[in-house]
Amino acid sequence: MDRDRPIGVFDSGIGGLTVAHALMAALPHERILYFGDTARLPYGTKSSATVAGYAAQITEFLLRRDVKMLVVACNTMAAVALPAIVAMSPVPVVDVLDAGARAAVASRSGRVGVLATLTTVNSGAYERAIHEYRPDFTVVSQACPLFAPLVEEGWLDHPVTELTAQEYLKPVVAEDVDTLVLGCTHYPLLKPLLARLVGPDMTLVDSAHTTAMRVLELLTSWNLCRTAPCHVQEHEYFVTDLPQRFRAVGALCLGRPLPDVHLVHW
Ligand code: DGL
Repeated sequence: MDRDRPIGVFDSGIGGLTVAHALMAALPHERILYFGDTARLPYGTKSSATVAGYAAQITEFLLRRDVKMLVVACNTMAAVALPAIVAMSPVPVVDVLDAGARAAVASRSGRVGVLATLTTVNSGAYERAIHEYRPDFTVVSQACPLFAPLVEEGWLDHPVTELTAQEYLKPVVAEDVDTLVLGCTHYPLLKPLLARLVGPDMTLVDSAHTTAMRVLELLTSWNLCRTAPCHVQEHEYFVTDLPQRFRAVGALCLGRPLPDVHLVHW
């Protein structure tokens, strides 16, 4: 297989950029082809069947562009569509949900909170993934349906976001958890705000870095790492609506301006 082929990374919107950012830091030679389905987000309030249909469409799009690996940078798609994505893909698939569960089992108390979208929480995927590693752990899940739209709005540190976060955190913190999984790739953008609200004793799990490490491990073991240097302008971004808006908010996530963002018409 050609090592120079890009890695396909996808999410409903800008949330997956938190994963793309970690990939760019850990694998600076790799070229990323990013897809955000901005016309149809949020995914986290939609049915499993609808999200699975969207996931299949994006998978096809990226495979047609000859990616060498797929990174499901959306917990909601991973929660409800991973087996279907894997079945469609001739290239390896890495997902954020398993990475989050692996990191969560480092909890000392064995009591873990999961903040995620409604669809992810309803799927029970995090409980299953964590219990696969540690059946004795207690998992307390909290759906946070307003977080993804607030992040897409760029309200990362805004009084409305803070009030919303206080409401969502109250029942989870009351369960005496010592670890909180940010079980949606939009949520790491709220990490400074969430960390301030829960205090220094709570471990916040952001699966972006763990996911990047897994990608590095797999590419290395298959001898698929790109050796030629990659310039930031070589990464490509595709969205299904409002590319300019994605460009503006995306720059906040990556900490640098984005090149042109392509608009995809299905
Ligand atoms: N960022 C996505 C996730 O990780 C979904 C956000 C949404 O579209 O609701 O679950």
